[in-house]
Amino acid sequence: TIEQRIDLLLPLMTLEEKVGQMNQYNGFWDVTGPAPKGGTAELKYEHLRKGLVGSMLTVRGVKEVRAVQKIAVEETRLGIPLIIGFDVIHGYKTLSPIPLAEAASWDLEAIKKSAAIAADEASASGINWTFGPNVDVANDARWGRVMEGAGEDPYLGSKVGYARVKGFQGETVADLAKVNTIAACAKHFAAYGYVEAGLEYNIVDISNSKLYNSVLPPFESTVEAGVRTFMNSFNTLNGVPATGNAFLQRDILKGKWKFDGFVISDYASIREMIAHGYAKDEADATAKAVIAGSDMDMESYLYVAKLVDLVKSGKVKEALVDDAVRRILRVKFELGLFDDPYRYCDEKREKEVVGSKANNDGVLDMAKKSIVLLKNEKNLLPLKKSGQKIALIGALANDKNSPLGSWRIAADDNTAVSVLEGMQQYKDNQLVFEKGADLLKQKATFLTETVFNTTDKSGFEAAKTAAKNADVVVMVLGEYGFQSGEGRSRTDLNLPGLQQELLEEIYKVNPNVVLVLNNGRPLSIPWAAENVPAIVEAWHLGTQTGNAVAQVLYGDYNPSGKLPMSFPRNVGQVPIYYNKYSTGRPTDSDKNVFWSHYMDVEKTPQFPFGFGLSYTKFDYKNLKLNKTAFAKGEKVQVSVEVTNSGNYDGKEVVQLYIHDEFASIVRPIKELKGFELVNLKKGETKTVSFTLSDKELGFYDNEGKYLVEPGTFKIMVGGSSDKGLQDGFELK
Ligand code: IFM
Repeated sequence: TIEQRIDLLLPLMTLEEKVGQMNQYNGFWDVTGPAPKGGTAELKYEHLRKGLVGSMLTVRGVKEVRAVQKIAVEETRLGIPLIIGFDVIHGYKTLSPIPLAEAASWDLEAIKKSAAIAADEASASGINWTFGPNVDVANDARWGRVMEGAGEDPYLGSKVGYARVKGFQGETVADLAKVNTIAACAKHFAAYGYVEAGLEYNIVDISNSKLYNSVLPPFESTVEAGVRTFMNSFNTLNGVPATGNAFLQRDILKGKWKFDGFVISDYASIREMIAHGYAKDEADATAKAVIAGSDMDMESYLYVAKLVDLVKSGKVKEALVDDAVRRILRVKFELGLFDDPYRYCDEKREKEVVGSKANNDGVLDMAKKSIVLLKNEKNLLPLKKSGQKIALIGALANDKNSPLGSWRIAADDNTAVSVLEGMQQYKDNQLVFEKGADLLKQKATFLTETVFNTTDKSGFEAAKTAAKNADVVVMVLGEYGFQSGEGRSRTDLNLPGLQQELLEEIYKVNPNVVLVLNNGRPLSIPWAAENVPAIVEAWHLGTQTGNAVAQVLYGDYNPSGKLPMSFPRNVGQVPIYYNKYSTGRPTDSDKNVFWSHYMDVEKTPQFPFGFGLSYTKFDYKNLKLNKTAFAKGEKVQVSVEVTNSGNYDGKEVVQLYIHDEFASIVRPIKELKGFELVNLKKGETKTVSFTLSDKELGFYDNEGKYLVEPGTFKIMVGGSSDKGLQDGFELK
């Protein structure tokens, strides 16, 4: 067995070699070129040859991976293979939509398939481990990394995280040994989604209730799915850096949840404990990280420098090192790396798989499923297929780079199908493109700040003329692909640059505007929501963006996405989320000022969580419960009839929310506890059923104990978090 093989290997390893397994380096030179001389690259190279490196990240492609693997396997004393990590966040080269967009599909099978496509391409390129899924629940759109997660809800986040793990790894641990699967990594453990004020890398101060009920469930769900690795996090949690947090990593993850994979730090996060003011020096940071349960050091250079001495001096027990190494070796064995270290290094497969037709078809399907129709008045959509003059306006419409989105290290620049190219496929209409204004002042990259051009309006006139002469104007506006993601916090959620002004100018000459949004986070678009007749949320949809958008605009695909995050009316409402609390003064029943509200704007979101329209219409009726009172442990059966009463076949995400009316710790006014994606032909009715059990009806107290309390519950079933049919029951 794997454990027996580890038992045989561990005693052969020197302390230095064990610590080496706990060391991960970033790709260090053109690994297929000459060996480096001088600087950190040379040090990494030396360490690799001495067996002091257990893993590398950001090395990619069969040629590069083979080169580093060869050093580990053929030049080190024990020949232990490297595990090769990479940020395969929404695809490798053929990109699917950003993860937030995928979550908008609420289609777990499609999300799983999308992760499997990513795994297929990455594994064909030498990679055997992704740093995903990101299961950070987040409700502050100022934080740029909301694009990487599944949005604001722990229930949806748990389901999506589970599906992604299965997609990357396969159904069982045994599937990990297949050549087209890779190990997944649940990140960032924990609470990174709650950085204060949405400011990147900021502190996190949250209640225990928030931690247990919102932050941790999606992580636990990935453990249930069999995720093999975890990554900790840059943030502090209530004063203790996540990287040095024994409560999170030892008590909860490896203790309560019995996780037997390994934990990697985030990039240099062990060293950053010094800057946080939590560790005195390098040795202290190293000791604190190991003791807290961080098994592998990503690019802090500390385990390799300090850990041997710490063990020798008795400050860190060798048993902790052994435990970490056992975990790392276990995953390497599971991946089959000991049986054939070059199993992911097949040039022929790389050529066949990366960018294949099947993968492009797969990401196109996912992209269409991720689109959310936010508004559709005057029946502007779907567009008529012939005899129309269409003006396509906005620099983003003709951009082949931005739709790829953030976090796409392996994809080549400018490889997305632009919206313009997608629209050009519909040849029986007249299509005119005008950018209106440039978006960027300089080329944007993953590593540099995205700078907008805010002054040059010289393209406005041509855009206005095009709009005036058109039947319908399609405007593609929003954020550039690299305006969300890591390091991309914003204090303003409006359309950046000149885009709002352009939108209003165009609307004046032709109000038949379809606004297609491109963005990696919820935006505030109050003017557009009020005035523009049709709005389509198209996120950053990856390689096949233009085809997906065009097919939806022309009605060849009926949109069915629902928002996984609330869209605020303005940034001052943030954080805004549907599963909020009542407060003691939720309404203005006394008709005076002393109730929970804003003076200047409604307290509801512009577009709520779970919201999304279709070209058809869905009616809900006959909400039924099997009983009105239940004993603890009994199953509550809920059913509802949903009818497609419009003119198109379509899909609807039927959502079930509960409200625990009183409890020993106050509960949110609504909590999603079930959903189902139903296909309904024009005129068709289906009965949709849900089961609620203790798992859905309970909650965690402030000590992390799961409670199911007697009391009354309300339920709501509908197509959005803000309205639906209601009923209730008692739990005795
Ligand atoms: O995986 C990422 C992480 O999410 C942020 N810091 C860097 C890691 C490796 O690239």
